[in-house]
Amino acid sequence: MCGIVGYTGSQDCMPILLRGLGSLAYRGYDSAGVAISDGREIAVVKERGKLKNLEDTLAQRPLVGTAGIGHTRWATHGEPNAVNAHPHVDQNRKLALVHNGIIENYRPLKERLMQEGCAFVSETDTEVVAQLIGSLYQGDPKQAIVEAMRQIKGSFALAILFRDDPGTVYCVCDGSPMVVGSGRTGSFAASDIPALLPYTRKVTFLEKRQMAILRPDGISFYDRDGNPITKTVTRVEWDVEAAKKGNFEHFMLKEIHEQPNALINTIRQYVSERTGFLRESIFPWSTEEAGKLKRIRIVSCGSAYHAGLLGKKFFEHLAKLPTEVEVASEYRYSDALFEPGEPMMLISQSGETADTIAAMRMAKERGQQTVAVCNVIGSTIARECDRTLFTYAGPEIAVAATKSYVTQVAVLYLTALDLAYRRGCMTEQAVRDCLEALHTVPEKMRRVLERQEQVQAYANRHVTARKMFFIGRGLDHALCLEGALKLKEIAYIHTDAYAAGELKHGTIALIEDGSLVVSVATQRDLLPKMASNMEEVRVRGADILAVTNGTGGLGEHCSEQWDFPTVPDMLAPFLAIVPLQLLAYYMGVARGCSIDQPRNLAKSVTVE
Ligand code: G6P
Repeated sequence: MCGIVGYTGSQDCMPILLRGLGSLAYRGYDSAGVAISDGREIAVVKERGKLKNLEDTLAQRPLVGTAGIGHTRWATHGEPNAVNAHPHVDQNRKLALVHNGIIENYRPLKERLMQEGCAFVSETDTEVVAQLIGSLYQGDPKQAIVEAMRQIKGSFALAILFRDDPGTVYCVCDGSPMVVGSGRTGSFAASDIPALLPYTRKVTFLEKRQMAILRPDGISFYDRDGNPITKTVTRVEWDVEAAKKGNFEHFMLKEIHEQPNALINTIRQYVSERTGFLRESIFPWSTEEAGKLKRIRIVSCGSAYHAGLLGKKFFEHLAKLPTEVEVASEYRYSDALFEPGEPMMLISQSGETADTIAAMRMAKERGQQTVAVCNVIGSTIARECDRTLFTYAGPEIAVAATKSYVTQVAVLYLTALDLAYRRGCMTEQAVRDCLEALHTVPEKMRRVLERQEQVQAYANRHVTARKMFFIGRGLDHALCLEGALKLKEIAYIHTDAYAAGELKHGTIALIEDGSLVVSVATQRDLLPKMASNMEEVRVRGADILAVTNGTGGLGEHCSEQWDFPTVPDMLAPFLAIVPLQLLAYYMGVARGCSIDQPRNLAKSVTVE
């Protein structure tokens, strides 16, 4: 999704802005631009398409100055062209600004401003903010911004340059992230941490309608009315190397390979090395509260939703706790009923997904307890939820979720164990046995990763596939949904995931000679059923790839079998997802797709 950078300091700002935009490009965008103040005027350059286009223009026409703002835009209002790209200026060019988010009341504001004589050049909601602040500006930038914030509704993160205040960058936000930090050469702002990391690890997150004023020698903070406030500084534990590709060709492949370590880092936070048992204080519910829980509702989007589906299986199987899982964009407009005392779990890698945030706020308004599973410290969801269970995946740069998904599944599994123990569904020893098995998973995952050439060979053989089917039962069905999503996102192959027993109620009509079917069959008690379902499609001409849990034995029903090291059935998703991710990756590579930034997709979807 859109990215913002801002800088003021002692250095020439153009290279700093371009570098920052480069580090945010992973979020997905379709145009980019910068505004730089040279002390007298604000110069703006914007281009459609990739950053390279902007860089080429700037190479022809360099902008010089030590304060500036930059933006990568993922089009929402108005097509992706240079006019609609940010920064936007007011009609008198007194200011330029960049914006992430959506201004919901931009239409009435625009009509009013037009009646007052404002001439608009773009179709964007963002230009309305620029014109609004321009019309309110009477020599005091802070006051004009405070006044404008009172009039705009929606979500926004804004970085603003004023012509009359050349060395200063103003930042405000509500519902869209903005993080600032001071470094050796000046002050920096961005919509996401990676852009700041080359300069500082000490960062401050702006909260609802707060303002940061960046000057070369430091940053000051204000509340929504413009009164000074003090903010705490957060230290980012991961470094800039974690956000680089290293020796891998793509971030996605690097992140798939980081999964064993991401799992280790996550498990370590929830399981005490000293006692070898679940850490008591880290989970959200006391024994008394756990015993009283009647139902949990999990709400999330995309891969996080698929992690939630596995969470349901864990909670119901281990902790005997009825669990509902819903896609956030549906939940927020549904009549979903809730029981008093029913908590809502929000799963989100970024902590900034608009629909998930909306569901969280609905729950809070109704007085429901909110518990997040989140990867980003300081994100909106992590800040606003009553409790946050962090995943320790480190920065995930590729648009397609991989290591964040696996760590979400781990946190859900550990939470289910904690609940099962507290609710008296499992003895301490039974929990210890599960933890012991979980500790073996990262090493076994490495062994699965070593077999990536086998996956690559399969992908190369089937590079022309136009559609694929995934089938599975129980946990495997939830996993199939994620495997199918990866192939759609990364290799643009039409895939669908089906509950294997449901095939004969319609889908099997699609099976013909050569249809590619991936059968995930890791659950031992369901193997005979899976064997029958595989046979049903095999005899109709399907070419079947089976992914199995050390069970072998399905060879006669498929043309290829990937059998990974044995783990208890409940833990099979951790290993089975790896070949599915690799399959999507190598299919995407073989088909020449844009792996880390697939077409039309954004890393974090901060609009409805
Ligand atoms: C986008 C991403 C997906 C992600 C989903 C939810 O669609 O492309 O990879 O799963 O958003 O994001 P979240 O940050 O809330 O987990």
